Amino acid sequence: MAAIPQTFISQLLSMCDIEDIVSSYANVKRQGRNKSCLCPFHSEKTPSMVIYNDTQSFYCFGCGVGGDVITFIMKIENLDYVEAVKFLANRVGLQIPEEARDDKTAYLKSRILEINRASARFYYDCLKSDIGKAGYDYFKTRQLSDKTITKYGLGYAPDSWDLLKNHLLGLGFNYEEMYLAGVISKSQRTSRYYDTFRNRVMFPIIDTKGNVIAFGGRVLDNSKPKYLNSADTPVFKKSRNLFSLNFAKNSKSDRMILAEGYMDVIAINAAGFDNVVATLGTALTKEQAKIIGNKAKEVIIAYDSDEAGQTATHRAINLFSDEGIPTKILKLTGAKDPDEYIKKFGVKRFEMLLDGAGDIIEFELNKLKATLDLEDINDKKAYLKGAVSVLSNVTDPLERELYAGIVSKETGIATESIMSQVKSKIKKDSREKQRREWNDIRINKKVLSDRINPQKPKFLKQSLAEEGIIAFLFRNPDYYDYILSKIGVEDCVTDFNKRVFKKLSECISKQGEVTLTALSEDFSSDEKSRIAQILAQSESQRQTKELLDGYIATLTEYNKSLKSKDIAATDIGDIEQYRKNLLKKKSN
Ligand code: UTP
Ligand code: MN
Repeated sequence: MAAIPQTFISQLLSMCDIEDIVSSYANVKRQGRNKSCLCPFHSEKTPSMVIYNDTQSFYCFGCGVGGDVITFIMKIENLDYVEAVKFLANRVGLQIPEEARDDKTAYLKSRILEINRASARFYYDCLKSDIGKAGYDYFKTRQLSDKTITKYGLGYAPDSWDLLKNHLLGLGFNYEEMYLAGVISKSQRTSRYYDTFRNRVMFPIIDTKGNVIAFGGRVLDNSKPKYLNSADTPVFKKSRNLFSLNFAKNSKSDRMILAEGYMDVIAINAAGFDNVVATLGTALTKEQAKIIGNKAKEVIIAYDSDEAGQTATHRAINLFSDEGIPTKILKLTGAKDPDEYIKKFGVKRFEMLLDGAGDIIEFELNKLKATLDLEDINDKKAYLKGAVSVLSNVTDPLERELYAGIVSKETGIATESIMSQVKSKIKKDSREKQRREWNDIRINKKVLSDRINPQKPKFLKQSLAEEGIIAFLFRNPDYYDYILSKIGVEDCVTDFNKRVFKKLSECISKQGEVTLTALSEDFSSDEKSRIAQILAQSESQRQTKELLDGYIATLTEYNKSLKSKDIAATDIGDIEQYRKNLLKKKSN
């Protein structure tokens, strides 16, 4: 974070108006002095997100998310701080200064990327030499061409504890960097470092900028674990990356194929479809669903036809549907996965399969039917119940009718009665959903407030006064001297507000003013939401000196009472100590 100079951030902020930025994601309307919109971070029908031009902040009274422009971009684009700054800089056409790279973490990241690249090169060279013959032969049995091997930069990690380690040492990298990159591991018993990947064929994971960010490695036989994947590192987050996205992002197709693993992706890509990705050894995440949705208009799930694959398909469908991404399912009849399908039936048939990819409703209905016998009256009832539930998730009414007709034919129950059941299920679900959403919001808000400032409920009056002073100082930094002549940081009762107040005073005494962004280094994103909330809540009040004096009085009175109570409650020895402390303080 410190990587980017504060002067640059100030310049950037002066060019990024909060209202302008939010407007590109939501429909912002005037509401009194401020602007408001439907909160893009939770679903709602009436606007509860407010945008404050004077503090350049936003706050949602519904879900409690708030902050400055940078926070907004981090959340909505799912980026980290530096990425969000880059994103905004790009938007307004600013160049991030060079010295940003001098930063320590930036340096470490670049070293890790260099290590990854050198390791990928090493694995590749091994694959192509005698030491990697077993790996090369393995890829050949999987029918990969040399072209595909090169395209994906596939490699082989030799059956050795230290060949890679020594190679990297020779290139001038140290153990710590290699360890952080994940290419070497450390023995708990002996504390010695050793190569993480041994006797495995290697799949480098490459991001959209062309960086090697991680590895997956497969055994050559049936031993376990079949695949070993890099853990998260400073340059790699599993949950935010996809295998082969570096190729898929340039695809002309407006749909994306989501396969289960490395080999499927490579087989599909080699068959001529560049619009294919896979997750990295974990179930699909919301972030990954978003990435796919940003690139493609439609996703085709091509998971294995086994039970695990079908369960994963089910989960993925839900994630895509949450993100509003149209989804189809590939029916791999006669093969266990796309790789096998292409080998068995050829590219042409795979293409036909893709074009006719079955839709979700059919998938779900078939899944229901698979274990049921429709001749049996109880099974038939179960099927109807399940089908009604499936159809109630179909958003298009015409399509709903259509499938109700199919279910009617299958069961002999009139379409109308199926439809009426579907309709009442939809009503029930939507009531249920609303209730849940409100609950979530309530719980969220409570957890958030408790977690951020756990002392607030106990010291309600004092913490509100503290927040009043914080907001006042934020908006009127010229009152800094006045406030500091009346109270100090140590007069704050709750620890969180004390931290905010302290940081605020530091900023103002140094720069004469303060922005939410200036607090970024010292506060987490939830904490910043809280600060935005403090600002939002004070907005409706006129900032008068009387109000400020009231807040100050609340704190000074509390501290006075505390001190006299202290004296009353403690024994003689303590009082003596207390007196000494007082004297010491005075002489300082
Ligand atoms: P599969 O077992 O279906 O692997 O797991 P696959 O891709 O078809 O591999 P081949 O064809 O047997 O070589 C699907 C994905 O799940 C993850 C990997 O990402 C794999 O590609 N996985 C599987 C692991 O991370 N670890 C494992 O032990 C197994
Ligand atoms: Mn598989």
